[in-house]
Amino acid sequence: MSPFAGRRIVLAVSGGIAAYKAVEICRRLVDAGAHVTPVLTHAAQRFVGEVTFSALASERARVSLFDDEDPIPHVTLGRQADLILVCPATARVIGSYAAGLSDDLLGATLIATRAPVVVCPAMHTEMWEHPATQDNLRLLSERGVTVVEPEEGRLAGGDEGAGRLAAPESILTAAAEALAAGARASTRDMVGLRVLVTAGGTREPIDPVRFVGNRSSGKQGYAVAVEAAARGAKVTLVATVQRQVPESVELVLVETAEEMRTAVLDRLPAEVVVMAAAVADYRPVAPADEKIKKSGEDRTITLEPTPDILAELGRSGAAGTLVGFAAETSDVLANAEAKLHAKGADIIVVNDVSAPKVGFDHDTNEVTLLDAAGDRTAVPLTSKRDVAQAILDRAVTLRNLR
Ligand code: C5P
Repeated sequence: MSPFAGRRIVLAVSGGIAAYKAVEICRRLVDAGAHVTPVLTHAAQRFVGEVTFSALASERARVSLFDDEDPIPHVTLGRQADLILVCPATARVIGSYAAGLSDDLLGATLIATRAPVVVCPAMHTEMWEHPATQDNLRLLSERGVTVVEPEEGRLAGGDEGAGRLAAPESILTAAAEALAAGARASTRDMVGLRVLVTAGGTREPIDPVRFVGNRSSGKQGYAVAVEAAARGAKVTLVATVQRQVPESVELVLVETAEEMRTAVLDRLPAEVVVMAAAVADYRPVAPADEKIKKSGEDRTITLEPTPDILAELGRSGAAGTLVGFAAETSDVLANAEAKLHAKGADIIVVNDVSAPKVGFDHDTNEVTLLDAAGDRTAVPLTSKRDVAQAILDRAVTLRNLR
């Protein structure tokens, strides 16, 4: 079945010459079974008329916030949409969207929606390469918007260069992927579950200004917390770093392994516990009360083991489904298998942190999930949010098998 069948798509068209290509995209989406509502900016109508889109789309084209029988068309469109496809996206529309401006129907619909958004920029090379455009697109990507990069080729006025609207196939593929991701994200299969997540690297003080730490950014743990909350879980996140979380997530900030242990134990029981934090394995035995002064001599810091929170939870059984992480640089799967049993976890998420773009501080990750039932699932290089999704899918499946 077509990924577009029965899906509601707002085709947001802004005013560049590539607006004529949006007509073809509109036709192909309708042919694939989508309900398409075109929304045109003023400038778009100078290139292609409202009538053309109304004739081809399944719904009539919309052009204004005001002269419409619906008093709040942007909210209605934003709420009903499964996807908003901005094609073409001019530098102005990209800039307004990044700034959160909503001075026309298209801008207001973008701000009023929770649906996935795909943006297809098309403009002259100078505008495309301008730092403002690039910064705005980076910001939009960070917020989860899909950007379909333009191609090199002929531009308006006979110019050549980067900025030509991407090919229809690339745009339709990105739209299909965003729809599928949106559908997965709207799964509410964790309603009623308490999920406890840890994130970030612990800091074990040497003195008041120095610590033993690691390179963990906390991004993977945050992605798990955000994903679990989106799926309806009641989430507590115990973290060593502060990032954005939905309001419903209880955020507990800690610094050391000992503080993390106390915070985790205090907040149990939970149906699912995901220990994504990189907890230090050792800490200085006797942190100095005052800053250690520089002397020309060698110094030795004696370290002692920290409490192993995951192993403690594995023994206690207070965590319903227990997920641990293993960051390895060699014998990756064998080490993870050993950890699964030694810690008493239900799932170990292992990554080879020596591979490029994997693990610490990256926005992407590549992992294998090993579970106590003997199943192995490889998740190829993808966003940390997708990895979070795979982890929670497996945790929910294991719970349902019990
Ligand atoms: O033993 P190792 O540090 O390799 O295991 C990693 C897993 O164990 C991670 O899930 C981490 O959060 C957890 N861990 C822990 N307490 C420690 C060390 C690791 O909970 N002291």
